[in-house]
Amino acid sequence: MTLKNSILYSSLFVGLFVGLFVGGITMHAASLTVQTDQPGAKLNPAMWGIFFEDINFGADGGLYAELVKNRAFEFPDALMGWSKLSPSKSLGSLAIRDENPFNAKNPHYLRIESQGKDVFGVANEGFRGIGVKKDEAYNFSAQLRNVSGNARLRVALYGGDGAVLDSVMLKDFSGDWKKITAVLHPKDTDAKAKLYVLLEGKGAVDLDMVSLFPEHTWKNRPGGLRADMVQALADLHPGFMRFPGGCIVEGIYLTNRYQWKKTIGPVAERELMLNRWNVEFLHRPAPDYFQSFGLGFYEYFQLCEDIGAQPLPILSCGLACQFNSGEACAMSDLGTYIQDALDLIEFANGATNTIWGAQRAAMGHPEPFNLKMMGVGNENWDAPYLERCTKFHAVLKAQHPEIQLVSSAGPSPDDAHFKYAWPKLRELHADIVDEHCYAKPDWFFNSTHRYDNYDRNGPKVFFGEYAAQSDYIVSVKNRNTLECAIAEAACMTGLERNGDVVRMASYAPLFANSEAWQWTPDLIWVNSLGVYRTPNYYVQQMFSLNHGDVVLPMKLEAADDAKLFASATRDNASGEIILKVVNGDNAPVAVQLNLAGLGKISSAAKTIVLAGEPRGENSFAAPQKISPKETALNISSPEFQHEFPANSFTIIRLK
Ligand code: AHR
Repeated sequence: MTLKNSILYSSLFVGLFVGLFVGGITMHAASLTVQTDQPGAKLNPAMWGIFFEDINFGADGGLYAELVKNRAFEFPDALMGWSKLSPSKSLGSLAIRDENPFNAKNPHYLRIESQGKDVFGVANEGFRGIGVKKDEAYNFSAQLRNVSGNARLRVALYGGDGAVLDSVMLKDFSGDWKKITAVLHPKDTDAKAKLYVLLEGKGAVDLDMVSLFPEHTWKNRPGGLRADMVQALADLHPGFMRFPGGCIVEGIYLTNRYQWKKTIGPVAERELMLNRWNVEFLHRPAPDYFQSFGLGFYEYFQLCEDIGAQPLPILSCGLACQFNSGEACAMSDLGTYIQDALDLIEFANGATNTIWGAQRAAMGHPEPFNLKMMGVGNENWDAPYLERCTKFHAVLKAQHPEIQLVSSAGPSPDDAHFKYAWPKLRELHADIVDEHCYAKPDWFFNSTHRYDNYDRNGPKVFFGEYAAQSDYIVSVKNRNTLECAIAEAACMTGLERNGDVVRMASYAPLFANSEAWQWTPDLIWVNSLGVYRTPNYYVQQMFSLNHGDVVLPMKLEAADDAKLFASATRDNASGEIILKVVNGDNAPVAVQLNLAGLGKISSAAKTIVLAGEPRGENSFAAPQKISPKETALNISSPEFQHEFPANSFTIIRLK
């Protein structure tokens, strides 16, 4: 310790926990000692992951880049999303029919018949507007069948103000169903465009699977995912991706539970289903929310592979959502559900000469997807769950001991369901227990020691859904504030320090369409044209990009009421020490850092800081308002003082 540092150190300890008065604001003082030469638990390199659920128009109207809503006319109100285009002179009719359909699984189609007095047809509004960008290409396709006459068919994009953005005449359709394609190049960017399908001349035409995709999708896959949304996920470098939810797994009733087998194979044959969030909240109705399953299990696995995330599918355990019907399958029927799990393992990992492995190969992926874990039920609880979960375990562990099973501890981190579940899951020797928590920021600030005393020999923990709520759970007033993000970061330091027990964690929900959401807060907000990342996103990203390989023991000393939290890890490859410090107070804090056990230290260090007003938020207009800032840090000794700003999350990387 240098003389200067030693004097500073002593004076800090004299005044420690008292508070310094610097430049008119009270600066609290504290110390953090990290034992750099005594590495503790090995962290799971895939610890920080993501949780995807088709909520808030996360899939249809979100990640799945299809721009046409109700493209196959299968919504119960078959013309929902479509409107009749009938200028004053035109005469014509629209009819939903199902005889001789293009596809028996989604049998409805639209017949447009025109008297030929003027153009006549339909317009699709997209998912709260079709977002198109100037100079980009949009691929139109539809199944068409000429019924009578020789009308011509025009497709066009119109802007929200009614101006034509581009228009193309379709050719070559006949008396049989045939896929017709065209490419549109809008001359302007428009967030609220509409797709018009117009008959010119006298005749009748049948129309189905009307589709419009941006040519530029993620990896430019035709019919693929929105590139900007996937990029936001890729930039998180998630260790795993949990999918497809969430309560959507369970269904309101068992009939509308998520069934992965219905989501693979040709897209047109994937049967449309109600999205449970359509009717979940009376205060946020979403009557046009359905699942086309264009983003199905094959695409989920492919997405995981693309972004380097281990797949974590969650399957129904034969219990519908216990917040809704709680319908439970008869125990004698549980075999069907367990078989779905076994078949999924084969679909993901099986050889191409197995039934399900062959299906994967037929879809374009002969190599296995390398599935290593699977969730049994989502947020299920009590005896009906434990009974079913136990059966799943018996069969899956016997046939696939290589697959780690994730079991549910219910919806809360400490209610009666939680207390019931844990001892039973311990008895069952469950691999990983999924804990959920949506609570006020204080819960997160106060729970940083939650895992310090967890049994090191029991099941591991997946902190599988969490988010600080600025108002209260399911309140529409919840905001993605910096205060919430900082509270989550504080809690995450506790998860990291206990990385031997807490093996995985993911914020929830992931996406929200700003015009069609049911649940807030959410990690990433999108509209028809773009994406913005919240302060909470940046916290997740900072942890994920700076996870380290081993936990380093540390001692943090601060005033009892200080909102100061920390964790320390080491990156083995680079030899860097990674300190994470959260200051949740409204004043900066000076911390005396002591990297004990270090011979020497490189002067070139860096800090990455997320800071601002506690109520600060990002938006489409100011997406970077609260975002991490990286600065070089010059240090000369393993003992140094550093000031952490008010309301901040800081990472210091040193060699
Ligand atoms: O993340 C939103 C919902 O919260 C999930 O669907 C459910 O698991 C939890 O109750």
